[in-house]
Amino acid sequence: MTQITLAMAKGRTAKDSLSLLNQAGITFPDFDSKSRKLVFYSADKKIKMINVKAIDVTTYVEQGAADIGIVGKDNILEADADLYELLDLKLGICKFVVASLNDQPIEKGDTLKVASKYTRVTEEFFKEKEVNVETIKLNGSVELAPLIDMADAIVDIVETGTTIKENGLTILDEITDISTRLVVNKASFATKTKEIQEFITKLKNVVE
Ligand code: PRP
Repeated sequence: MTQITLAMAKGRTAKDSLSLLNQAGITFPDFDSKSRKLVFYSADKKIKMINVKAIDVTTYVEQGAADIGIVGKDNILEADADLYELLDLKLGICKFVVASLNDQPIEKGDTLKVASKYTRVTEEFFKEKEVNVETIKLNGSVELAPLIDMADAIVDIVETGTTIKENGLTILDEITDISTRLVVNKASFATKTKEIQEFITKLKNVVE
């Protein structure tokens, strides 16, 4: 039997992703969200699931340490990795936005300091807009940066809008929609085509 390794993003979307797998008939009987274990096997042992930080999923998949990955489009865009993105799981739906303390539009030729967890996405977005940015890399609580005058704006994900609202920020621009995606290592797709396609078909039947 050819086993496939799935890198699953830990965190806010993990529960929904696991529930989707469950609906597709892919269950992990030994999985326990409270456990510190990082490796789990599906009931039929066809899938080995490794639980990793969302930002690292594309690295495991690109390196071939995992054949497939389940991760947010935000992390896929930020990683710019060489892999196939084959299915939108339609979970973890949110948006990448630009926000600031004031509602003054950002214009071509402006120079700004922008705080974000996603510095690549930030640089690419503003390059396209011909806005000069100095990015400040943060790993969380990004909304704080404009409040303490560390940045003129932020690029972050917005789901319910609560964090933006409670910190008095205004959305100036929407960059793109985000949701959880299935990514596949290119070499694995060539060598384990049947197993990977079977996995995708099971998920597709539930998603669509
Ligand atoms: C994310 C994101 C925003 C918030 C958006 O942060 O970076 O801060 O969620 O969600 P909302 O629109 O529903 O308020 P996360 O909860 O991952 O924590 P972090 O600030 O530590 O990154």
